Amino acid sequence: MSKQEKIIGAPISRIDGVLKVTGKARYAAEFAVANLAYGFPVQSTIAAGEIVSIDVSAASRAAGVLKVITHENALTLMPRPTVTAQNRGTRSTPVLQDKKIFQYGQYVAFVVAETYEQARLAARLVKVTYKIDTPKIDFDENVKNAYKPEIINAGYKTDTSWGDLENGLKQSDATVSEIYETPIEHHHPMEPHATIAVFRGEKLLVYESTQSVAQARDGIANTFGMPKENIQILSPYIGGGFGSKLQLREHAVLTVMAAKMLNRPVKTAVTRQMMQTSVGLRQLNRQKMRLGASKDGKLLAFAHETLTHTSFDEEFVEQSGVISRMMYAVPNSLVTHRVFPLNIQVPRWTRAPGEAPGSFALESAMDELAYKLKADPIEFRAKNEPAKNPEDGKPWASRSVVAAMKTGAEKFGWNKRQLEPRANRDGKWLVGYGMAAASRGAPYRETSARVRLTRNETVVRALIEMAATDIGTGSYTIIAQTAAETLNLPIEKISVKIGDSALPPTPGSGGSWGAGSYASAVAAVCEKAKTDLQAQVKVRFVKTPTVSELMTAGNLREFQAEATEKPSTESVNYSHFSFGAHFAEVRVDEDLGIVKIPRFLTTVAAGTILNEKTARSQILGGVVWGIGQAMTEETTLDKRYGSYVTRTLGDYHVPVNLDVGTIEVFFLPEEDKIINRLGAKGIGELGITSVAAAIANAIFNAIGKRVRKLPVTPDKLI
Ligand code: MOS
Repeated sequence: MSKQEKIIGAPISRIDGVLKVTGKARYAAEFAVANLAYGFPVQSTIAAGEIVSIDVSAASRAAGVLKVITHENALTLMPRPTVTAQNRGTRSTPVLQDKKIFQYGQYVAFVVAETYEQARLAARLVKVTYKIDTPKIDFDENVKNAYKPEIINAGYKTDTSWGDLENGLKQSDATVSEIYETPIEHHHPMEPHATIAVFRGEKLLVYESTQSVAQARDGIANTFGMPKENIQILSPYIGGGFGSKLQLREHAVLTVMAAKMLNRPVKTAVTRQMMQTSVGLRQLNRQKMRLGASKDGKLLAFAHETLTHTSFDEEFVEQSGVISRMMYAVPNSLVTHRVFPLNIQVPRWTRAPGEAPGSFALESAMDELAYKLKADPIEFRAKNEPAKNPEDGKPWASRSVVAAMKTGAEKFGWNKRQLEPRANRDGKWLVGYGMAAASRGAPYRETSARVRLTRNETVVRALIEMAATDIGTGSYTIIAQTAAETLNLPIEKISVKIGDSALPPTPGSGGSWGAGSYASAVAAVCEKAKTDLQAQVKVRFVKTPTVSELMTAGNLREFQAEATEKPSTESVNYSHFSFGAHFAEVRVDEDLGIVKIPRFLTTVAAGTILNEKTARSQILGGVVWGIGQAMTEETTLDKRYGSYVTRTLGDYHVPVNLDVGTIEVFFLPEEDKIINRLGAKGIGELGITSVAAAIANAIFNAIGKRVRKLPVTPDKLI
């Protein structure tokens, strides 16, 4: 690097910030398309059974109606293949192909009209009669049907074990055997899902709110049996996804189908109520933890057994126990997942799938065991630090969890904590401190990028193009920063074009792989551009020339390079995780069951931080979701009908400003030379992981009561 200041890591404000706050960054539903028609789905009002008949006559006669699509006249779509970890995100998503009903809110018809209001009104006129079966809704009534799935989400092993668990428990001086439960939760990104589909002959253009333009394109191609080359997905700005926008959803399939049948552009905007029924959820997880340790604080036994549900339509099993395979060293281990179907929608990846519920059970149980041992929770965790990943024996590319806990303890003032609960009172408030260690897989995935350099006199500009997405996380900004630093150009001279499936492929934004993957590919392509330029411009320089000097010397007005960056062969021999620690201060009013969280502190060890400001915002968002998981979020089902009692943000409670006190975030300096060329690990989902445990542990420290079933509503404390 030259004299130029370090740009990677600098807390630069979002380069798309002005567009965002002035409303110029358009979301999928906001694109102006000529001759647009509007679609609105009709949803099932039963949870199990079959359609007997559909009367569309009144709807068809209603003002402005262009088409009513049902299973009787729908286009024939490709059948869904057996779903695997590899094809789940891109497989065919057939809709309106038969009469079967699996869930309340399932799409049973689709009305297209000249205006949104006409479509929405006519959708109410569609009369469906059903043969109704008794739906299976209740967890406890159906848990007897639990079975062992072949694989769980993302292809993890269903069960793992080593050593002899029962023997380990028997040898232990202290044990914990408890059940922890997290409820159904919904994603609820600020921008609801939306799709606009436009056919021009055989070519299809889709404006889609998606975390991955490639998966949206491939999903449509596989559903309609179309060549991928004929489909272009545009998703330049996205108002959050939280996993619900990783995979093509049924409303998008209906929109494309209608556009094809009518030969006219069609738009569908999913309502907040439909966000509850139709774009995925996190299911209820019931996790049994059995831990044992010797009196000097060494873990001897560790079991994490998860029971959860899926739908009758498709199997999806959240990997909640996976975190317990890698976090602590233990000679006797058992981690299992069991699942059974219910008549509610298929679960989907939701805000740190696996870790978010799994870490609540794991880090709560660790706290319970530390208390039984009369040990400090940080010392207890540090004592059980594994030298290698216990599951597969691979070395850590980097693991600074002990440093994260110790640094956090110091900054938080952990020494003020009393081991015994109820020791700290401030007027009517009982004050408690809790902590938890956090980890989240830091996958790095193959990513491509293109750079176009243009020169006007001595001024060189660069345009970076890649099929990446920015779901509100700051992708635009970290891409520009990486290009600016690598090309030695001011950041104002960098433009970024993303959110277009026609650009060089990337894995999209999800699973905490986005930023590290995007930035590594950008660094690679900018390095390649410099090398290629030097090779082409055969002028000798006394010192390393800038791209501007090279292009001037070669009299080049334009230059272009493209590169694909894969995980190195070395990196696959290592385990890649980001780590951190959370600290919570709570104040509990026992008379009213009120909990306040005035102070929260998080330390993060995630290798190179690409932008301290957007990274901090990511962690803040994660912590707020963790507070939601701990305190407020719960989807309530009507067990008679399988419909939702919580249908809006008025009754599905996410934390608001009054629920959140001060949150401090500290990034630990950490070097990871193995994961990728920038040493950047993911942080997208680390922020939420273990937050709920830190809060529940603090509540125990305040009042001596364990809450093992989230959310911690006042009735559970009185
Ligand atoms: Mo994340 S739940 O992989 O968007």
